[in-house]
This record gives sequence, structure tokens and C-alpha cells, in this order.
Amino acid sequence: MPKTQKFRITGGNRLKGTVRVSGAKNAALPLMAATLLSSSKHTLRGVPALKDIFTMAELLDDLGAVCSLKKGTLEINTESIDAFEAPYELVRTMRASVLVLGPLVARYGRAKVSLPGGCAIGARPINLHLMALERMGANITLEGGYILASAKRLKGARVYFDIPTVTGTENVMMAATLAKGTTIIENAAREPEVVDLARALKAMGAEIKGAGESVITIQGVKELNPIKHRVIPDRIEASTFITAAAITAGEVTIENVLPEHMDAVIEKIKQTGTEVKTKGKALVVKGPERPLPANVKTMPYPGFPTDMQAQFMALMTVAEGSSIITETIFENRFMHVAELRRFGAEISIEGHTATVKGVDRLKGAPVMATDLRASASLVLAALRAEGESIVDRIYHIDRGYEAIEKKLRALGAEIERFKD
Ligand code: EPU
Repeated sequence: MPKTQKFRITGGNRLKGTVRVSGAKNAALPLMAATLLSSSKHTLRGVPALKDIFTMAELLDDLGAVCSLKKGTLEINTESIDAFEAPYELVRTMRASVLVLGPLVARYGRAKVSLPGGCAIGARPINLHLMALERMGANITLEGGYILASAKRLKGARVYFDIPTVTGTENVMMAATLAKGTTIIENAAREPEVVDLARALKAMGAEIKGAGESVITIQGVKELNPIKHRVIPDRIEASTFITAAAITAGEVTIENVLPEHMDAVIEKIKQTGTEVKTKGKALVVKGPERPLPANVKTMPYPGFPTDMQAQFMALMTVAEGSSIITETIFENRFMHVAELRRFGAEISIEGHTATVKGVDRLKGAPVMATDLRASASLVLAALRAEGESIVDRIYHIDRGYEAIEKKLRALGAEIERFKD
């Protein structure tokens, strides 16, 4: 059996000090895929050193690109793309690999991408991505677990998403930049990561209107220039640190944030009695001795993000009363509940709704991470819990939180990584 890495966390310390948020994983991944739209040398700044970023770089390398990441600057040379396949082994470890589909078909007229299949948080189909590309004239077939897509040149089309899909919107927006004619995406996702991608594409010469609204209009152009872009700060990492300050009754300054991307989380966290003050691009957070309960329902942006549901639930486990947490985006995103119970949390689930009855104290326990955000929630609970906790399978957290234990340790947390 290979050794797995774990965290040993001794809870009870109030976090204090200053932490700097990294660039957003979910903004960087589509930007990396967008480099396929123009055969040139691209530069992305503020890119976090994360497992998912390395997986996307490996995928681009397989396609013939050359990637190098140094101190947050990612250079990608896409002058010699000579393969068009996203293999099962990579897509299986990271669903966002599917983001190369739109750019490859738009720029090279062909792509072969493994079907992602289900994952720990739900079935997560990509039917909407495929429907949209078909509308745009792509010929799509499924063969041996792979999507085969081809098109001489994509055509603009009107695309309606019955669910506002984030990566679907990004895939279609990228594909449409090089299509012939106008593409209109209705009920588009409005996440800041979609807007950041549109900003970079526009700087490449793409014609895009409405990103950040629910109708995006893209006028196709013949070719695009290289990308030079700084990735937006990670609103989910920032929100996780807010919650870390809140759950430890700490006092933390969080730098490199865009508070306007975090309204839903900031408003909700304030209801728990946590003080959050905005100082330009920083937040000053002071946690209460014990949080007040607050109900939460996850929604597409600008609603409360599903990527913060597990962490917020960790906070509610020690609230002075009961809270109701409803997950509306993914059908199976309560895997952390059974693990949170191991700390002594009282949580019951009925369908998509969890009722959390706040308890006085959590007790350290051995727990197991099941997905990226679930693992963050376990770390948060362990920071509050009395005594020692061991969090297993932390490779999940390394997918999306850069140097998490170093950042927490600098704030006074007792946390160490070890191999078992
Ligand atoms: N959906 C469909 N059909 C599709 C596409 C989506 O039914 O073709 C459904 C999904 O099953 C889900 C809902 O639509 O129920 C929304 O999913 P969406 O497509 O928006 O999710 P995604 O694009 O696959 C991104 C983030 C996720 C984040 C979700 C929701 C990236 C790389 N991933 O995923 O991030 O949870 O949006 O905000 O941007 C994470 O970082 O931990 C993470 C999972």
C-alpha cells in the first residue's frame, strides 16, 4: 500500500495574524485551456501551485504544449500542438480537463475527450456542453467512453442552458470566440471566474458582451492573440480563511481578496456574529466566542457557493442553536457529514437538507477527506476541536488549497503533514 499523507491537527488555538490568498484555481484552469485558442506564447500570473493546475499542465503538455510554472507565473507555449486527446487517466483525476474540448474543436476542428463520469459530489453530466457544441455545428459521437468532436469551423448559435453550468459556459464561450458568426448563451453562469475568462479572451481580441450577466453574446473572430493575464484571487480560499477565523474565535487579516466576489459569504458569516471589515483588497475578520446559527441554501452565483457549503457547516456544528443547510447544486455533496459527526457534531440529513444542531464543543478524531471542499471542512472542525485530530487523504485538499498547512501554521494553528 502506498503511504498516504495526513494532517495532524491539535485544535483550540485562536488564529491570529495575516494570510495572503492565492490566485483562483477555478479561474486559472479555464484560462489554461484558453491558451489552446491561439498558437503562441502565453503568460498567466498569480497561478497557484496546486495539484489541479499541474494536472491541466500535464494535459496541455500531452497535446504538445510546453508549460512552466515559476513563482506564480505560468508560461504556456502552444505553438506546436499536435495531439487532440484528453485521456481517461487525466479526466478521471480532474473533471475540469473537459475544458479543452471547446478550444480544441474551435481551433483545430477536432477533439477526443474522455467522458468524466460521476464523482464524489454527484453524477455531474456534461450534456449541456455537448448540446451547445452540437448546436454550433460540431459533429459529436461517443465511442468507448470518449467524446469525439469535429467541425470544419464552428458556427455561431443560440444556446440555452436549463442549468447555469460554470465550465459549460466557459467551454462554449471559448469555442464561440473562433466560430463563424454570433453565439448567444442564455442562462449563462455568472461566476467571477467566467468574467475573468471573458476579460482575458477580450484582451486576446475576442468580442464578448455580457459576461457576468445571464446572457452572453460572442461575435466570432478569425484568430486570437496570446494571453497575458493575472488570475483573480480565489474567493473560495478567502472564504475558507474567513470561516477559519470564525470557528477559532480568531482575528485574521486576509489579503489579496476581491470582496465584491464574496457578498453572499460575507453577509452570511456576519449573521453568525463574526465581524468582517473590508479594507481595500483585505478583509479583517474577528470570530465570536460561539457563532450564532444561520440557515444557508447553495445557489449559483451571486448566491451562496456550493464550494463553501461544507466549510460553513463545520462552523455551524458549534453554533448556539440549530441551522438548516440546503444543497441545491450537487446531489451528493454531504459526504463530510458522517466525518463531522466523528468530532461529535449533531447533524441529520433529509434529502438535500442538513439540520445542524450546534454543540458546545467538538472533540478531536481521526477523519477521512472525501473531496476538496469536504476536506477543508474537516480541517476547520479539527482547528476548533479539543485535542488531536488526524485528517486522512489530504491529497484532496492539495487539489485546491495552496500551502494550506503553512498558511494556517503562520496564523498559529498546530498542524503538521506526515506520511503514514
Ligand atoms: N450540469 C448538468 N449538465 C451539464 C453541466 C452541469 O446537468 O452539462 C449540472 C451539474 O450536475 C450540477 C450543476 O449543473 O448539478 C452545476 O454544475 P456546473 O457545471 O456549474 O459545475 P462545474 O462547472 O463542473 C464548477 C467548479 C466546481 C463548482 C461548480 C459549481 C470548476 C473547475 N469547477 O464545476 O468547483 O463546485 O462549478 O459552482 O470551475 C471545486 O472547486 O471544489 C469544485 C467542485
